[in-house]
Amino acid sequence: MKTIISPNGKIVIIVFSFLISLYLITQNSHPFLSCKSENITIKKDSIVPWQVPEITSIPDNAEGAEIKLGKSIFVDTYRYIGPDVKDVSKRYARTNMDCQNCHLKAGTLKNVFGLIGTYTRYPEMDARSGKVINIQERINNCLIRSMNGKAMPEDSKEMKALVAYIKWLSIYVPKGTRTEEQGIPKIQLLTRAADTSSGRMVYLGKCMTCHSEDGEGALNIPGNIDVPADSMKGYDYPPVYGEFSYNEGAGMYKLLTAASFIFSKMPYHYSELTVEESYDVAAFINSKSRPVFKDAGKDYPDLKLKPIDSPFPPYGDSFTQLQHKYGPYGPMLKEGEKSIMIKPE
Ligand code: HEC
Ligand code: HEC
Repeated sequence: MKTIISPNGKIVIIVFSFLISLYLITQNSHPFLSCKSENITIKKDSIVPWQVPEITSIPDNAEGAEIKLGKSIFVDTYRYIGPDVKDVSKRYARTNMDCQNCHLKAGTLKNVFGLIGTYTRYPEMDARSGKVINIQERINNCLIRSMNGKAMPEDSKEMKALVAYIKWLSIYVPKGTRTEEQGIPKIQLLTRAADTSSGRMVYLGKCMTCHSEDGEGALNIPGNIDVPADSMKGYDYPPVYGEFSYNEGAGMYKLLTAASFIFSKMPYHYSELTVEESYDVAAFINSKSRPVFKDAGKDYPDLKLKPIDSPFPPYGDSFTQLQHKYGPYGPMLKEGEKSIMIKPE
């Protein structure tokens, strides 16, 4: 079939395709086009799918090398900034844990603190500190609390690499959009308080084999392949309480966060606990001793924004500290809040 288009028709078609491309770009239907320019206006909070970038998309240049270093630091944190590294000034973390111990699969798993889409949300208002923070401050928060360490300078090689990696994780998430599966889903509420003695039984039956009887985890055995001699002590199984675990200022010290994480992913690879068991064992590990975070009471200066499971006073309501720590949470729900339960893939 022969189609004849007049010169005028061609112009109309060209203009038309130009407008369609513009529309597509602004709607983010093409990840590369839309990510190239950060200034495109996008409908605020539009949702983009959870898409993990392919390793092959890491460029083969200096920028790519930084992203790869960042990924290694994220996965094997203890080797770069752990308490046993040779260079004392680099000992930012006070535990041999890795970022990946909580941000599973290098931060790529959805619904368990995955970091696809994190980079593009920052700087962001942080209810915990009551101010706007940038991505470096957010990373340092995990370092200071979840790894009981101290802040890394923003211009340090390690921080820059971590930021480069976290930025790369979001190449399919344009600024102004978000991924629905970030963070951790809310776990169904119990009508009773979590019970630490039942939790202890769950721990002995279902956690101890990996995390050890006293919660201290299991270090990998010196002499393992390719572990540098100056930092032999990464964990095969990270500690869940005790002096090398996350401190009391960490997100994991909040019952609903820990219960939801454990419900979805522990015992690792099986996740066979009931909701009740997940609450009880989370309460058990969080009832055991761990490093103190001395400024925990200063968190959430706006009490209206304080999570109901925050274990430290002051509170904007009249429930006791004990109830905030262990529940039951039903009566504490704020207006419009509801509990949902999703078991992530
Ligand atoms: C088969 C071994 C295994 C069992 C059993 C297991 N875990 Fe884990 N757990 C792991 C591993 C491995 C990680 C770190 C994942 C990674 O680095 O990829 C982890 C991470 C964690 C973390 C986050 C990191 C930390 O140390 O704080 C918590 C909390 C946790 N597990 C709690 C539990 C609880 C509670 C149970 C029992 C219900 C349990 N786990 C059972 C292997 C296990
Ligand atoms: C003991 C568990 C744990 C460890 C270890 C940990 N984190 Fe986190 N991290 C969390 C929790 C819990 C959150 C809060 C997630 C939420 O609010 O949904 C979080 C949040 C974050 C966020 C913000 C996510 C967002 O979308 O706003 C970043 C970035 C981050 N962590 C980076 C790191 C880095 C880098 C490391 C290693 C240096 C690390 N984390 C180690 C538990 C941990």
